[in-house]
Parts: sequence; structure tokens; C-alpha cells
Amino acid sequence: MDFLDKLVLPQSLEHIALLHYLATIILFLFVPFISLVLGGSILSLYFKRKGKSDENGFYTKFSKEVIELTTFTKGAGVALGSIPLLALILIYAQILHNLKLVTISFFVAAFILITIGLIFIYTYRYSWVFKSLFSSVKIEERETEYSTFANNVARVNRKSSLWGIIFLLIGSYFFIGGINLTLNPSDWDATGILYLFTSFSVFVKWIHFLTAALSLTGAFLLFIYFFWEGGKGIEDSGYKEFIKKTGLSVTLFFALFQPLFLLINLVALPSLALSSSVFGFAVISLFAVFWVFHLLYAMLKNSELHYSGMVFLLLVIASLTLIISEQASFRNVTKKQAILLSAEYDVTLKALKGEPIGIAEISGADIFNGKCSACHKFDQKLVGPPYKETLPKYKGDVEKVAAYVLNPTKINPAYPPMPNQGLKPAEAKAIAKYILEEVKKY
Ligand code: HEC
Repeated sequence: MDFLDKLVLPQSLEHIALLHYLATIILFLFVPFISLVLGGSILSLYFKRKGKSDENGFYTKFSKEVIELTTFTKGAGVALGSIPLLALILIYAQILHNLKLVTISFFVAAFILITIGLIFIYTYRYSWVFKSLFSSVKIEERETEYSTFANNVARVNRKSSLWGIIFLLIGSYFFIGGINLTLNPSDWDATGILYLFTSFSVFVKWIHFLTAALSLTGAFLLFIYFFWEGGKGIEDSGYKEFIKKTGLSVTLFFALFQPLFLLINLVALPSLALSSSVFGFAVISLFAVFWVFHLLYAMLKNSELHYSGMVFLLLVIASLTLIISEQASFRNVTKKQAILLSAEYDVTLKALKGEPIGIAEISGADIFNGKCSACHKFDQKLVGPPYKETLPKYKGDVEKVAAYVLNPTKINPAYPPMPNQGLKPAEAKAIAKYILEEVKKY
């Protein structure tokens, strides 16, 4: 996707932070929506097939209702399915600018596949309307032309759900592959589709997504039938019992997988990606899932159907906190990339303003006297260690020293941690160059 790379401009650190927030918000819309559509389609297709041999008609009725409820309106498919994906492609292209990750190509493939999948699913949804219309007409009254049309509709109804599900499944695999790649710098040189099929973590994440989607769909159905606006007030008590049983078992069965997958995904993260917010939000997610278990138990045992509102809310919270945790790891692994981009941004900005480019005019000596000399000498210990002792291990690598100064980490237990001096990337480079040059005199 070279053309996208040419389209984007390097950004300042503040803008990159903003892009991460935007990506999080868009994922908040996209992930729950696509989970419901996929979960709803799978359940609808399953019960439609089951309905063929069913006497009381519950399965077929449920199949039709499920797909209507989980797809909302036609507009939702575009607004919450396709457009967010397009926006994510642009945001990720900005954040990953110059890294040349295949993530962007995976996202583009996901966009195409998921859009086709959504078209199939919405065709399926609306074909139900015609199907019921035709089947309400008595056989004798049907003209031949009319019945071929009815047959066509029935065929569309049969085929479109299966194709829709297949496209959504493959599309989501590409999407998750793209996300997973961003979190694993050791795979960043992956160039093609092979990565999707050789990376075990992509597969695990995808199964995690599918089980979470089905669990969320089950909870959503319970919520709509029994809680939202006082519930649907189903007259037929047999049908009500059937929905309750089905909704509860789908929610519970697929929720049971969540803690395990969550832990596997955490363990699979490279250490670079870890931070307290990554863990913190994952723990909140885990907590929400355990609370769900507790409520589902009460619902099974005592028919406390009003808990369905809380169950759905908690599962939404569990998904959103996982998204935040994931985005936090994404920020962690791309920290260095963000600093490089903002350095490029400084240069671009200078060029636009007509100022001389380069870091030569930033005086390393000035920065040293202003910001470092209070704690550092070259040959003596002050608050911080003498440069003479710490710099040799960098072997003259300006970038490495600059990276440390921009983001000091704890190194020597004999010293307190060094506070971040809030330098611009170009300044960090200048001071790094200066001290590496000066230390040679000692
Ligand atoms: C408030 C005190 C303080 C200031 C100001 C300060 N440092 Fe430090 N610096 C420290 C301390 C303390 C350490 C030791 C940290 C450790 O080992 O965990 C350190 C360590 C270092 C190291 C060695 C890192 C290593 O790999 O062992 C370098 C290089 C360094 N500082 C550069 C700078 C530069 C450049 C500046 C000015 C922009 C600066 N420091 C400003 C306190 C300071």
C-alpha cells in the first residue's frame, strides 16, 4: 500500500497520541457491531437449518428474529461496519508510516471482504421479509411465474447467509492478523499472506474473537427479549422458555472461554508491549467476565431475567476494556516509531517555515549546561553517574543515547531513576552527539 504511505505526513507526538485515541473510539463501534452481525448470522443460519425438522416453528421464527435484531438497520452495516474500517486504514497508515507493515494491506483486504459479507447478510435479512410474504400465500393461488420468483427468493435466503458468514469469517481473520502483527515487532518483516497462516497467535486471537462475539450475541438477545423497554412480552410461554434457554446457554458456553483466551493473549505479548495499563484493563475485563458468570448462574437458577441488562452491559465493558488494553500495547510497541515520526515532523515543519534543516544549530553544550549538568559530570558522580562510566557501553551510537534521554529507564540500582527531561527528539540527538564527543576527552 505504497500510495497510502505517500499520502500521509509525519505527525507530532501529540497528534500520534490523538490518532491512538481515535482508533480506540472507532474500534469501540466496529468490534461490538461486527461481533453482533457475525454472531447473529451464525445463530440464525444454525436455527434455520434446525427449523426444517421442527414441529412448533420456534426455530424458524427465532432464526428470522435473530437476524433482524442483530443487524439493526441497513444503514448500520455501512455506518458501523464499512466506514470505521476505512477510517482505521487511514489511521494505521499514519501511525505505521515508513514501517512498511503488511498490516495496511490486511486491513484493505478485510475492508473488501467484510463489506461483501455485510452485503450478503443484509440480503439474507431482507429476503426473509419476502420469504414470509410468499409463504403466506396459499399454494393453489400461486401462478407458475410467481412460484419461480418465490423459489428464487428462497434460494437467495438459503445461499446468502452462508456466503455472508464465510466472507465475514475470512475478513475478520485478515483484520485480526493485521492487528496482531502491529503488536509483534519480531514479525514486522513479514511480507505477505503467509504470516496469517503461520502465526499461531493470529489463530488464537481469531478464535477468541469468535467465542466473544457469540457470547456477546447471546447476551444481546437476552437483553432485547427480556430487558430493553421492559422486554418483548412474548405471549407464547413455550417460545419464551426456548429463547431463555437458548440465550443463556449460548452466552454462558462461549463466555467460559474468555478468561483462558485473555490470559493466553497476555502471555503471548512481547515484553516491549507490556505496561501497567495493558494489565490493568485486562484485569477489569476479566473481572467483568467473572461477574457475568455469577449473574448467569442466578438467571439459570432462579430465572432472574432482569439481570440480562447487566450481563449485556458487563460483556460490552469486557470487550471495550480489552480493546483499550490492546491499544495500550500497540502504543507501547510503536513508541520508538512515534519518536522517529515526530523527529521527521520537526524537519518537515522547519522546511515549510523556510528555516534551516538539521540539528547542527541546536547546541548540545547549551542543553548540557541547562538541563544535565545539575546531575551529571563527565568524570564525577553527582546525582547521576559520570558519563565516563555509562557512555562507553553505547559505543558511539547517537540514536541509542538519544532514545535513552527521551525515555530514561531504570538501569543502575545504585542510583535513583533519571527523570525525563522533556526534550524534543532533535534536541536529544544534539545532546547525545555532544556528550559522546566530549566524553572522549576524559
Ligand atoms: C535530576 C537529575 C538528572 C538530570 C537533570 C539528568 N539526569 Fe541523566 N541520570 C540521572 C540518574 C539518577 C541516572 C542513573 C539512572 C539509572 O542508572 O537508573 C542517569 C543516567 C543517565 C545516563 C546513563 C544511562 C545508562 O545507560 O546507564 C545518561 C546517558 C544520562 N543520564 C544522560 C542525561 C542527559 C543527556 C541529561 C540532560 C538532558 C540528563 N541525563 C539529565 C539523573 C539525571
